[in-house]
Amino acid sequence: MSERTLVLVKPDGVRRGVVGEVISRIERKGLSLVALELRTLSRETAEDHYAEHRERPFFGELVDFITGGPLVALVVEGPRAIEAFRALAGATDPVKATPGTIRGDHALEIGENIVHGSDSPESAAREIKIFFPDLG
Ligand code: TYD
Ligand code: MG
Repeated sequence: MSERTLVLVKPDGVRRGVVGEVISRIERKGLSLVALELRTLSRETAEDHYAEHRERPFFGELVDFITGGPLVALVVEGPRAIEAFRALAGATDPVKATPGTIRGDHALEIGENIVHGSDSPESAAREIKIFFPDLG
């Protein structure tokens, strides 16, 4: 049983040149790439992607950050891809993220934690549709 997840290398990850490393970790794990695009998000798209956080105090800064430069969006596929990628990413707070994970190795601030990965099949379907509406 295969599933899909939406992965973002956020603008901090692009700026710091870790796109190749993130893709490499995904491939090394045995997950497959289904779609990939470099783009800069509009505020509207960013607010839609992070809609669940609309009422949180960090929402404005989160939208400023995620629209602040180009990011790389990927659809990643494989057995339990959602959980598998979140394990590669590490905890949301990069100081708490285990060293060896993407966030644990590359970040210090919760607001700039390098990658996004969908957290459930429902959010994966919703987020993939935002970024890749034509994907079958
Ligand atoms: P969340 O969905 O909780 O984390 P994750 O990316 O691990 O699924 O939050 C979305 C993003 O919002 C998170 O990656 C970084 C940012 N964020 C903050 O800036 N401050 C916070 O206190 C939290 C919880 C998240
Ligand atoms: Mg989340």
